[in-house]
Amino acid sequence: MVNRENKILDHGYRVALLSKKLGQTMELSEEEIDYIYMAALNHDIGKQYLDIKILNKKGEITEREKIYIKMHVLLSTSKAIEKQMDVYIVKGISHHHENFDGTGYPYNLKGYEIPLQSRIIRIVDTYDNLMMGTCFGEGLRREKVIEIMDKDISKFDKDIYLKFRKMIENHDGYLSELKTAN
Ligand SMILES: [Fe+2]
Repeated sequence: MVNRENKILDHGYRVALLSKKLGQTMELSEEEIDYIYMAALNHDIGKQYLDIKILNKKGEITEREKIYIKMHVLLSTSKAIEKQMDVYIVKGISHHHENFDGTGYPYNLKGYEIPLQSRIIRIVDTYDNLMMGTCFGEGLRREKVIEIMDKDISKFDKDIYLKFRKMIENHDGYLSELKTAN
């Protein structure tokens, strides 16, 4: 049986690998890519402290539950601080649910106020959740995922998103490669 910790770790691992790939496509420095990898790997670690029944709830969730789930960002951030991770990593985790159009959380940051590492993780995290089904129960086909993300493009840094989409469209072995690497 897949337990919660494994699910969180697997998701973190996939997001970390794809974020690294994206960082390479963007020609970021090796040091920056390493930090982005670590931020992506740990972005959801705070979820292990939340009630699994609420995290896995299917269908409509209440306003209270929404607020409760959003707490994972603060929990992940404080865990990263506790583990004395570099401030670049802590920031990446802390802002991974901010949207480029300012509609995200926890601080409603907008555009380039959001650190680059978080803008990268925001895109890859959304993609993995839709592909693997952590949001909607079952995963979706890649074409459908891209269609959904295209509609939501205002939430993402457009330049990075377009690079990501190109990378994904040219790369068929997403899942098999991740499985081999695991
Ligand atoms: Fe998250």
